[in-house]
Amino acid sequence: MLLVDSLSKRYPNGHLALDRIGLEVAPGEILGVVGGSGCGKSTLLRLLSGLEVPTSGTVTLNGQPVRGPRGEIGVVFQEPRLMPWLSIRDNVGFGIRHLPKAERRSRTDEALTRVGLIDFAGAWPRELSGGMAQRAALARALVGRPSVLLLDEPFSALDALTRCDLQDHLLDLWAYDRPTLVLVTHDIEEALVLSDRVVVMQPRPGRILTVATPPLPRPRDRSDPLFEEWKRRLLGELGRASRHRTDGDEAFPAAAI
Ligand SMILES: Nc1ncnc2c1ncn2[C@@H]1O[C@H](COP(=O)(O)OP(=O)(O)O)[C@@H](O)[C@H]1O
Ligand SMILES: [Mg+2]
Repeated sequence: MLLVDSLSKRYPNGHLALDRIGLEVAPGEILGVVGGSGCGKSTLLRLLSGLEVPTSGTVTLNGQPVRGPRGEIGVVFQEPRLMPWLSIRDNVGFGIRHLPKAERRSRTDEALTRVGLIDFAGAWPRELSGGMAQRAALARALVGRPSVLLLDEPFSALDALTRCDLQDHLLDLWAYDRPTLVLVTHDIEEALVLSDRVVVMQPRPGRILTVATPPLPRPRDRSDPLFEEWKRRLLGELGRASRHRTDGDEAFPAAAI
Protein backbone atom coordinates (compact mmCIF):
# COMPACT_ATOMS: atom_id res chain seq x y z
CA MET A 1 0.00 0.00 0.00
CA LEU A 2 1.27 3.45 -0.95
CA LEU A 3 0.05 5.86 1.68
CA VAL A 4 0.15 9.63 1.47
CA ASP A 5 -0.78 11.41 4.65
CA SER A 6 -1.41 15.15 4.91
CA LEU A 7 1.42 15.87 2.49
CA SER A 8 2.37 19.52 1.98
CA LYS A 9 5.14 21.16 0.01
CA ARG A 10 6.09 24.81 0.32
CA TYR A 11 8.96 25.87 -1.94
CA PRO A 12 11.66 28.17 -0.53
CA ASN A 13 10.10 31.10 -2.40
CA GLY A 14 6.99 30.71 -0.24
CA HIS A 15 4.82 29.05 -2.88
CA LEU A 16 2.54 26.40 -1.38
CA ALA A 17 2.58 23.80 -4.18
CA LEU A 18 0.74 21.07 -2.26
CA ASP A 19 -1.61 21.45 0.67
CA ARG A 20 -2.40 18.45 2.86
CA ILE A 21 -2.73 15.76 0.19
CA GLY A 22 -4.12 12.44 1.40
CA LEU A 23 -4.19 9.29 -0.73
CA GLU A 24 -4.24 5.53 -0.39
CA VAL A 25 -3.11 3.63 -3.45
CA ALA A 26 -3.68 -0.12 -3.31
CA PRO A 27 -1.09 -2.60 -4.59
CA GLY A 28 -1.55 -3.02 -8.33
CA GLU A 29 -3.93 -0.09 -8.63
CA ILE A 30 -3.63 2.34 -11.53
CA LEU A 31 -4.22 5.85 -10.24
CA GLY A 32 -4.51 8.74 -12.68
CA VAL A 33 -3.76 12.29 -11.52
CA VAL A 34 -5.12 15.09 -13.70
CA GLY A 35 -5.12 18.86 -13.34
CA GLY A 36 -4.10 22.00 -15.17
CA SER A 37 -0.49 23.08 -15.27
CA GLY A 38 0.87 24.41 -12.00
CA CYS A 39 -1.48 22.50 -9.68
CA GLY A 40 1.35 20.45 -8.19
CA LYS A 41 1.20 17.17 -10.11
CA SER A 42 4.95 16.94 -10.72
CA THR A 43 5.66 18.06 -7.18
CA LEU A 44 3.43 15.26 -5.89
CA LEU A 45 5.20 12.69 -8.06
CA ARG A 46 8.65 13.86 -6.95
CA LEU A 47 7.55 13.57 -3.32
CA LEU A 48 6.16 10.06 -3.95
CA SER A 49 9.47 9.04 -5.52
CA GLY A 50 11.55 10.44 -2.69
CA LEU A 51 13.38 12.76 -5.11
CA GLU A 52 12.05 15.70 -3.12
CA VAL A 53 11.26 16.06 0.58
CA PRO A 54 7.91 17.31 1.87
CA THR A 55 7.50 20.33 4.12
CA SER A 56 5.15 18.26 6.24
CA GLY A 57 3.27 14.99 6.04
CA THR A 58 4.49 11.57 5.00
CA VAL A 59 4.72 9.10 2.14
CA THR A 60 4.96 5.44 3.17
CA LEU A 61 5.25 2.32 1.06
CA ASN A 62 4.18 -0.87 2.83
CA GLY A 63 4.66 0.84 6.16
CA GLN A 64 8.17 2.13 5.38
CA PRO A 65 8.69 5.88 5.04
CA VAL A 66 9.89 6.99 1.61
CA ARG A 67 12.74 9.39 2.32
CA GLY A 68 14.91 9.06 -0.76
CA PRO A 69 15.04 7.34 -4.16
CA ARG A 70 14.83 3.55 -3.88
CA GLY A 71 14.76 0.56 -6.20
CA GLU A 72 11.17 -0.39 -5.41
CA ILE A 73 9.98 2.84 -7.00
CA GLY A 74 10.51 3.44 -10.73
CA VAL A 75 10.01 6.84 -12.34
CA VAL A 76 9.40 7.90 -15.95
CA PHE A 77 9.39 11.58 -16.90
CA GLN A 78 7.99 13.45 -19.88
CA GLU A 79 11.39 13.44 -21.59
CA PRO A 80 13.24 10.12 -21.76
CA ARG A 81 16.34 11.55 -20.05
CA LEU A 82 18.66 8.98 -21.65
CA MET A 83 22.40 9.53 -21.35
CA PRO A 84 23.60 10.27 -24.90
CA TRP A 85 27.06 8.74 -24.32
CA LEU A 86 25.67 5.33 -23.33
CA SER A 87 24.09 2.68 -25.55
CA ILE A 88 20.41 1.87 -25.02
CA ARG A 89 21.42 -1.31 -23.17
CA ASP A 90 23.73 0.61 -20.82
CA ASN A 91 21.11 3.30 -20.25
CA VAL A 92 18.53 0.67 -19.31
CA GLY A 93 20.98 -1.20 -17.09
CA PHE A 94 22.34 1.91 -15.38
CA GLY A 95 20.19 1.57 -12.24
CA ILE A 96 21.27 -2.04 -11.67
CA ARG A 97 24.99 -1.54 -12.45
CA HIS A 98 25.79 -2.84 -8.93
CA LEU A 99 24.55 -6.33 -9.94
CA PRO A 100 26.93 -9.00 -11.32
CA LYS A 101 27.51 -8.58 -15.04
CA ALA A 102 25.61 -11.68 -16.19
CA GLU A 103 22.53 -10.88 -14.13
CA ARG A 104 22.61 -7.25 -15.20
CA ARG A 105 22.77 -8.35 -18.81
CA SER A 106 19.89 -10.82 -18.54
CA ARG A 107 17.63 -8.40 -16.68
CA THR A 108 18.44 -5.56 -19.04
CA ASP A 109 17.74 -7.71 -22.09
CA GLU A 110 14.50 -8.96 -20.56
CA ALA A 111 13.34 -5.36 -20.01
CA LEU A 112 14.37 -4.40 -23.55
CA THR A 113 12.47 -7.38 -24.93
CA ARG A 114 9.36 -6.45 -22.98
CA VAL A 115 9.30 -2.96 -24.49
CA GLY A 116 10.14 -4.29 -27.97
CA LEU A 117 13.60 -2.73 -28.20
CA ILE A 118 15.92 -5.71 -27.94
CA ASP A 119 17.06 -5.19 -31.55
CA PHE A 120 18.15 -1.67 -30.59
CA ALA A 121 20.14 -2.65 -27.49
CA GLY A 122 23.39 -1.52 -29.10
CA ALA A 123 21.95 1.68 -30.61
CA TRP A 124 22.62 5.21 -29.34
CA PRO A 125 19.81 7.33 -27.90
CA ARG A 126 20.04 9.76 -30.87
CA GLU A 127 19.16 6.91 -33.23
CA LEU A 128 15.75 6.33 -31.59
CA SER A 129 12.43 8.03 -32.40
CA GLY A 130 10.61 9.83 -29.57
CA GLY A 131 8.31 6.87 -28.95
CA MET A 132 11.20 4.40 -28.91
CA ALA A 133 13.21 6.59 -26.55
CA GLN A 134 10.24 6.71 -24.20
CA ARG A 135 9.97 2.91 -24.36
CA ALA A 136 13.66 2.77 -23.40
CA ALA A 137 12.85 5.02 -20.44
CA LEU A 138 10.07 2.59 -19.47
CA ALA A 139 12.51 -0.33 -19.70
CA ARG A 140 14.97 1.57 -17.50
CA ALA A 141 12.24 2.14 -14.91
CA LEU A 142 11.12 -1.52 -15.04
CA VAL A 143 14.55 -3.14 -14.94
CA GLY A 144 14.70 -2.81 -11.14
CA ARG A 145 11.33 -4.63 -10.92
CA PRO A 146 9.69 -1.81 -8.97
CA SER A 147 6.50 -2.41 -7.00
CA VAL A 148 5.52 1.19 -7.74
CA LEU A 149 5.87 2.90 -11.09
CA LEU A 150 5.45 6.68 -11.21
CA LEU A 151 4.87 8.36 -14.56
CA ASP A 152 4.89 12.13 -15.09
CA GLU A 153 3.12 12.96 -18.38
CA PRO A 154 5.13 10.17 -20.02
CA PHE A 155 3.49 10.37 -23.45
CA SER A 156 2.57 14.03 -23.80
CA ALA A 157 5.53 14.90 -26.04
CA LEU A 158 4.53 12.19 -28.55
CA ASP A 159 2.19 12.33 -31.55
CA ALA A 160 -1.37 11.04 -31.04
CA LEU A 161 -0.85 7.68 -32.74
CA THR A 162 2.35 6.85 -30.87
CA ARG A 163 0.68 8.01 -27.66
CA CYS A 164 -2.25 5.57 -28.04
CA ASP A 165 0.17 2.83 -28.96
CA LEU A 166 2.24 3.39 -25.84
CA GLN A 167 -0.85 3.59 -23.62
CA ASP A 168 -1.78 0.08 -24.75
CA HIS A 169 1.81 -1.03 -24.35
CA LEU A 170 1.93 0.35 -20.82
CA LEU A 171 -1.10 -1.77 -19.90
CA ASP A 172 0.62 -4.88 -21.28
CA LEU A 173 3.72 -4.08 -19.22
CA TRP A 174 1.61 -3.45 -16.15
CA ALA A 175 -0.26 -6.77 -16.57
CA TYR A 176 3.04 -8.68 -16.40
CA ASP A 177 3.69 -8.13 -12.69
CA ARG A 178 1.05 -5.52 -11.79
CA PRO A 179 3.00 -2.78 -10.05
CA THR A 180 1.12 0.08 -8.44
CA LEU A 181 0.95 2.78 -11.07
CA VAL A 182 0.58 6.52 -10.52
CA LEU A 183 0.13 8.30 -13.81
CA VAL A 184 0.20 12.09 -13.98
CA THR A 185 -1.35 13.43 -17.15
CA HIS A 186 -3.20 16.49 -18.37
CA ASP A 187 -5.01 14.28 -20.88
CA ILE A 188 -8.39 13.17 -19.50
CA GLU A 189 -8.80 10.53 -22.18
CA GLU A 190 -5.43 9.01 -21.31
CA ALA A 191 -6.38 8.95 -17.62
CA LEU A 192 -9.69 7.23 -18.43
CA VAL A 193 -8.15 4.66 -20.76
CA LEU A 194 -5.67 3.57 -18.11
CA SER A 195 -6.86 4.32 -14.58
CA ASP A 196 -8.94 2.56 -11.95
CA ARG A 197 -9.39 5.89 -10.16
CA VAL A 198 -8.75 9.43 -11.31
CA VAL A 199 -7.74 12.20 -8.93
CA VAL A 200 -8.59 15.74 -10.07
CA MET A 201 -6.30 18.40 -8.62
CA GLN A 202 -6.89 22.12 -8.22
CA PRO A 203 -4.22 24.84 -8.13
CA ARG A 204 -3.14 27.55 -5.66
CA PRO A 205 -2.64 25.72 -3.40
CA GLY A 206 -2.45 22.25 -4.92
CA ARG A 207 -5.24 20.15 -3.46
CA ILE A 208 -7.36 17.17 -4.40
CA LEU A 209 -10.77 18.37 -5.53
CA THR A 210 -12.32 15.10 -6.65
CA VAL A 211 -11.58 11.38 -6.67
CA ALA A 212 -13.44 9.64 -9.50
CA THR A 213 -13.99 5.90 -9.79
CA PRO A 214 -15.33 5.47 -13.32
CA PRO A 215 -17.20 2.14 -13.60
CA LEU A 216 -15.88 1.44 -17.08
CA PRO A 217 -15.25 -2.13 -18.22
CA ARG A 218 -11.75 -3.12 -19.43
CA PRO A 219 -10.33 -2.93 -21.97
CA ARG A 220 -11.57 0.63 -22.14
CA ASP A 221 -13.39 1.56 -25.31
CA ARG A 222 -12.86 5.20 -26.31
CA SER A 223 -16.04 5.12 -28.44
CA ASP A 224 -18.29 3.75 -25.66
CA PRO A 225 -21.00 6.33 -24.74
CA LEU A 226 -20.23 5.74 -21.04
CA PHE A 227 -16.56 6.57 -21.72
CA GLU A 228 -17.69 9.79 -23.42
CA GLU A 229 -19.97 10.55 -20.49
CA TRP A 230 -17.07 10.20 -18.02
CA LYS A 231 -14.86 12.35 -20.20
CA ARG A 232 -17.48 15.07 -19.94
CA ARG A 233 -17.79 14.64 -16.18
CA LEU A 234 -14.04 14.89 -15.65
CA LEU A 235 -13.84 17.92 -17.95
CA GLY A 236 -16.51 19.50 -15.77
CA GLU A 237 -14.43 18.72 -12.67
CA LEU A 238 -11.34 20.25 -14.28
CA GLY A 239 -13.34 23.38 -15.05
CA ARG A 240 -14.54 23.48 -11.47
CA ALA A 241 -10.94 23.03 -10.30
CA SER A 242 -9.70 25.99 -12.32
CA ARG A 243 -12.48 28.25 -10.99
CA HIS A 244 -12.13 27.08 -7.42
CA ARG A 245 -10.37 29.38 -5.00
CA THR A 246 -9.63 28.33 -1.46
CA ASP A 247 -7.57 30.01 1.18
CA GLY A 248 -6.64 29.35 4.74
CA ASP A 249 -6.96 26.25 6.80
CA GLU A 250 -10.58 25.28 6.33
CA ALA A 251 -11.39 21.63 5.75
CA PHE A 252 -11.73 20.61 2.12
CA PRO A 253 -12.87 17.01 1.80
CA ALA A 254 -12.40 15.69 -1.72
CA ALA A 255 -15.62 14.90 -3.52
CA ALA A 256 -16.09 11.30 -4.63
CA ILE A 257 -17.77 10.63 -7.97
N1 LIG B 1 11.48 24.44 -7.37
C1 LIG B 1 10.41 25.24 -7.32
N2 LIG B 1 10.48 26.44 -6.67
C2 LIG B 1 9.41 27.23 -6.58
N3 LIG B 1 8.20 26.97 -7.12
C3 LIG B 1 8.08 25.81 -7.78
C4 LIG B 1 9.17 24.89 -7.91
N4 LIG B 1 8.74 23.83 -8.63
C5 LIG B 1 7.45 24.07 -8.91
N5 LIG B 1 7.06 25.26 -8.41
C6 LIG B 1 5.72 25.85 -8.48
O1 LIG B 1 4.82 24.96 -7.82
C7 LIG B 1 3.59 24.86 -8.54
C8 LIG B 1 3.35 23.42 -8.91
O2 LIG B 1 4.33 23.01 -9.86
P1 LIG B 1 4.32 21.58 -10.52
O3 LIG B 1 4.34 20.57 -9.44
O4 LIG B 1 5.40 21.54 -11.52
O5 LIG B 1 2.88 21.56 -11.22
P2 LIG B 1 2.33 20.70 -12.45
O6 LIG B 1 3.22 19.54 -12.64
O7 LIG B 1 0.93 20.34 -12.05
O8 LIG B 1 2.32 21.61 -13.63
C9 LIG B 1 3.73 25.79 -9.73
O9 LIG B 1 3.12 27.01 -9.43
C10 LIG B 1 5.22 25.94 -9.92
O10 LIG B 1 5.53 27.20 -10.47
MG1 LIG C 1 4.29 18.83 -14.31
